[in-house]
Amino acid sequence: MIPQDFIDQLLSRVDIVDVVDRYVPLKKAGQNYLACCPFHKEKSPSFTVSPSKQFYHCFGCGAHGSAIGFVMEYQGLNFVDAVRLLADSLGMPVPEERRGDPVKERAARERRLSLEEMLASAAAFYKQQLKSSALAVSYLKGRGVTGEIAARYALGFAPDARIDAVQPLATLFPDYQDERLVEAGLVIAGDDGKRYDRFRARVMFPIRNQRGSIIGFGGRILSKEKSTHAPKYLNSPETPLFEKGRELYGLYEARQAIREQNRVLVVEGYMDVVALAQFGVGYAVATLGTATTGEHVRKLLRHADQVYFCFDGDAAGRKAAWRALENSLPQLVDGKALHFLFLPQEHDPDSYIRAHGAEAFERLLLEESLPLSAYFVREMTARVDMSTPEGHADLIRQATPMLGQIGAPALGFLIRKRLAELTGIDLSEFERLTGVEKPVAQGRREYRLPKQASRVMATSSVRQLVKWLLMNPEWAMQVAVPDSLPFAGDMACLVALIDRVQASERVPTSARLEEAFRGTPYETQIDTVLQQALRDPAEMANPDELDLDMFRDGVRRLLESCDDELFRQLSQRGLEHLSDEEKRLMQELMRRMAARTVHRPSE
Ligand code: UTP
Ligand code: MN
Repeated sequence: MIPQDFIDQLLSRVDIVDVVDRYVPLKKAGQNYLACCPFHKEKSPSFTVSPSKQFYHCFGCGAHGSAIGFVMEYQGLNFVDAVRLLADSLGMPVPEERRGDPVKERAARERRLSLEEMLASAAAFYKQQLKSSALAVSYLKGRGVTGEIAARYALGFAPDARIDAVQPLATLFPDYQDERLVEAGLVIAGDDGKRYDRFRARVMFPIRNQRGSIIGFGGRILSKEKSTHAPKYLNSPETPLFEKGRELYGLYEARQAIREQNRVLVVEGYMDVVALAQFGVGYAVATLGTATTGEHVRKLLRHADQVYFCFDGDAAGRKAAWRALENSLPQLVDGKALHFLFLPQEHDPDSYIRAHGAEAFERLLLEESLPLSAYFVREMTARVDMSTPEGHADLIRQATPMLGQIGAPALGFLIRKRLAELTGIDLSEFERLTGVEKPVAQGRREYRLPKQASRVMATSSVRQLVKWLLMNPEWAMQVAVPDSLPFAGDMACLVALIDRVQASERVPTSARLEEAFRGTPYETQIDTVLQQALRDPAEMANPDELDLDMFRDGVRRLLESCDDELFRQLSQRGLEHLSDEEKRLMQELMRRMAARTVHRPSE
């Protein structure tokens, strides 16, 4: 925890223009600075940085935030690490929050740092040992690993104990009895009180955290045959630095490629990551001999919009994939996508790319992978007998708990719709059976926009508006939403919030507003948005007029794009096919679209 006044101080000293300019070259444009947005692909710049407001805003994708927020998004760091990075650049020492026993906390921090140092020197030692081990070098050469890629992943070799039983690490650490060596996972204290190196006669893969510090190792046995009892791979145990359920092998090394491609690939093995990188697929990471956790997925989605899982085609791979899917469901967000690729039985990514090359691998990845929705539907329908009502009922029974967990409202809806179709059940009945109530209409007519309509609005920019509104409920009084428009997804959530505030006698506080939506279909959306906002204290600061202007403008643009899209859809169907009500809606849309140009001569 970092004290709030330090964060305030940091934000007052740091200049967001300098910070952003370090990563994205800025051009001055009037009061502000402009660039092409680093968070989405665009040809003409809509990313603005305001020196007076000290924040950035993208009019294209809605990305927005303070200097801290920018570093978090751009570098994929968490809040604390982003604060550290900025503070370091200004030479400001980061104080620790004095909670509990400051002496103990300081000691714990120092201990963690000393563990990091130990792991770093161990890694350097292993690296140097690799150079002098003909056996290990020929093993890696035999697997086709180049020197360049071995250096990039800092591969090393942990030698075996010497004949006189002196442990290799004892030559590096003079105090081999130091408890911290055990705590760091480098040394094992046996029952007999003897100590020995955990990793012996293994090729070493250092595992880094997001800051690039080494926090653990994976070590592979040299021999090919399975005759030995030793496991093929040995990993560091959980330590104060290393939590397998949070860390991913290769993430630090892959960051730039991930950002460039806006895509990350999750594979099963260390060697897969290394081989893929060697062949130019630099955006791969691996879980560490554990299942993919929700925390993993959340981390990955912070780095890229497209996440691909690549699993072996065997039974174990299929099982791992399903686990990954289950743990992903609560983390899903509309606007981002997960995909699953199953390789042919005989291959893992390493062997595939060596046999067929990078182009073939990437083609397979992009063309043959299944989006999460399709994989989910395929698996669900494969588990039951789809030719009988009993099978359909079983599908509903099995799908219900999973559907309830899906974090992305629009995607969740589309998956339910597909399953309803496949089981031949009316969507509203299906929603009732699976316990997903229809969205409360909040006094509005139910009329869902077809899915294309939600696509015209960038999810992130609608979310941005929801966030601002939650932070500043009184802003709802500054906008007008036409009564007759139907809304879906995040847009429906925004409108429901506006309606609620406008219908209240007194403007509710943020907390009251959030409370009012508990138990409604918007709860998860609101929750996600709030949690995100709470991570960035700048979001909580007092609003100013410029923010309010942006909010008003954003709502207006959104409403206009809804009008446009609905108009397009209705007119495509042809006047003769519209109901009387839809015809009235058409007229209203036309009136509003005509009024637009009159009211905004400046644009
Ligand atoms: P694999 O056996 O598929 O790994 O296990 P790999 O990378 O393809 O291995 P080789 O070197 O090409 O033969 C996948 C992952 O499972 C974990 C490791 O993280 C490994 O990378 N694992 C595997 C273990 O933790 N222990 C083991 O004994 C085996
Ligand atoms: Mn392999």
